[in-house]
Amino acid sequence: MAGTYRLVVVSNRLPVDYEEADDGAIIWRTSPGGLVTALEPLMRSSHGAWVGWPGVADRDFQPFENDGISLVPVRLNEDDIEDYYEGFSNDTLWPLYHDVIAPPSFHRETWDAYVRVNRRFAAAAAAVAAPGATVWVHDYQLQLVPRMLREARPDLVIGFFNHIPFPPYGIYAQLPWRKQILHGLLGADVIGFQRVADAGNFSQAVRRLYGYPTRGVVIDVPAGEKGDSRRVIAKHFPISIDAAAFEELARRPEIQARARQIREDLGNPKTLMLGVDRLDYTKGIGHRIKAFGELLAEGRLSVEDVTLVQVASPSRERVGTYMALRDEIELAVGRLNGDFSTISHTAISYHHHSYPREEMVAMYLAADVMLVTALRDGMNLVAKEYVAVRFDADGVLVLSEFAGAADELKQAILINPHDIDGTKDAIVRAVEMPKRERTRRMRSLRRTVAENDVAAWSASFLRALTGGAAVPAGIPDA
Ligand code: G6P
Repeated sequence: MAGTYRLVVVSNRLPVDYEEADDGAIIWRTSPGGLVTALEPLMRSSHGAWVGWPGVADRDFQPFENDGISLVPVRLNEDDIEDYYEGFSNDTLWPLYHDVIAPPSFHRETWDAYVRVNRRFAAAAAAVAAPGATVWVHDYQLQLVPRMLREARPDLVIGFFNHIPFPPYGIYAQLPWRKQILHGLLGADVIGFQRVADAGNFSQAVRRLYGYPTRGVVIDVPAGEKGDSRRVIAKHFPISIDAAAFEELARRPEIQARARQIREDLGNPKTLMLGVDRLDYTKGIGHRIKAFGELLAEGRLSVEDVTLVQVASPSRERVGTYMALRDEIELAVGRLNGDFSTISHTAISYHHHSYPREEMVAMYLAADVMLVTALRDGMNLVAKEYVAVRFDADGVLVLSEFAGAADELKQAILINPHDIDGTKDAIVRAVEMPKRERTRRMRSLRRTVAENDVAAWSASFLRALTGGAAVPAGIPDA
């Protein structure tokens, strides 16, 4: 049975999470993470449908419209959340795909839940997609959906985009279900990755595990029992943000006033440094705090002059590694503040919250130095947001070379966050950087982000998917 939508996006999370107010009223709150930030503008302009989970257990919702986007909720029960979302997605695939920074767990029951829930998402997408529609599936939680969809609806054009890294073969090969996942992904016509290296790792895994020939970005999938041989494209499409929308916010007088207020409330430090991350072990928050602590201990920076604001938004709070990380980070922040803060100057202003976009933009404007020290990150959109906001061409971005964004943002100060001494030197260099150099670097970074915004990203992916021809109605062409 087919539906009516010409474009369907499928992701684990909808762009909004369900919440209940004290008086029982329903609140739809913006979901965390870069995926939602990136896809929202496309969905608002394309009149497509977005299939995903509304962030709450055991609740059925009819499809509804929110802020100009048609949402199609998929129900997950408590077991699905525990085994498919917290288990296989976030305790197996997430650590495995991020360089095994934390050890991945391999459990057969959570794999079974992953298959079961992927099937549900595929069925929901198949039910709303019009004949011949384009369906764009997103991220590591749904890697089996492309194949399941193709089997149910061979008429569809199917794309997949992986928002996180795809690991080198030596790591990927640990996965007991490595062949099933590749088979699932190869159901797509185009498989997109953040970096050239991710697409290369994927093609290598296909060669090693299936022996299919690959030429550049093309993979030849031979004829199986069902159907003809197919060509699948595996290519990098680095994701971005709606740069103009961020700049527009930054230019608002009330947001600039808020930025000044933030600095004032912090005691007008000479230098304000900022870190903004989901509280995730891939983000290198501990490495950042260690580097800052040593700089204070050695007197290379002083708490009178420099304050670090760290926003750590709550994430995956029932997964053990995330609970342990929170304890570790909060212990480190507490120690550092105990050792170095004075009555009038706090070394780290730490916030375990998420904030509305307006407040984030004010923080970016207020920050002289932005610290992105991820140990591994698919892209890191925070780095791009900081650059987009700085229409004053000021501010210094310190960026880990292990974030996908480093492939493009070459005028940042690039660091290896494992090298604490190197990171310390980079921080001091950022704090002391002369205005002329700051302006030159920021201008160049801003050009890069403005030219490669999220509309260009989605248009280039959809062009590759539809062979450059009929991009689904309403999608802006970049
Ligand atoms: C990253 C992932 C997204 C995910 C987001 C938030 O950006 O790529 O797929 O939605 O983190 O994580 P959560 O587990 O809360 O959805």
